[in-house]
Amino acid sequence: MRILCLNGPNLNRLGKREKEAYGTFTLAEVEQDLKAAAEAEDIELECRQSNHEGELIDWIHGSEEEQADGIILNAGAFTHTSVAIRDAIASVTVPVIEVHISNVYRREEFRHHSFIAPVAEGQITGFGQDVYELALQAFILKRKRDQR
Ligand code: DQA
Repeated sequence: MRILCLNGPNLNRLGKREKEAYGTFTLAEVEQDLKAAAEAEDIELECRQSNHEGELIDWIHGSEEEQADGIILNAGAFTHTSVAIRDAIASVTVPVIEVHISNVYRREEFRHHSFIAPVAEGQITGFGQDVYELALQAFILKRKRDQR
């Protein structure tokens, strides 16, 4: 199984940005922990981060040719603004799990709407860095079920 983990704008600032909302861990730590969890389950994991909407869109499009089985996506603020990312997800057959480190529903109202949620398999929000591993677990459970 091959999983892509895509992080959007400002997530490269984890550890430095708004620590009360996002904690003190860095993106490198998130990716390292996720890689270890993936390896333990024999999953090939590729992690990428971009501050550019078009680059995220290109990676989502490319996920089919890359034969990814799933995408863990934290689109950051693009979650609340980007019809283009929503359309990119709808254009591929690769399932996407939307994740947010903070509980977006406990925060400002503009974070309550997600353009991505209607085209995602599901959404995991508010468990800090664990959201990435929870999303990975969801793909692992799906694999188990599909193999039955
Ligand atoms: C975020 C929540 C978004 O509202 C915000 O713009 C982010 C991070 C999260 O992980 O909690 O950049 O996606």
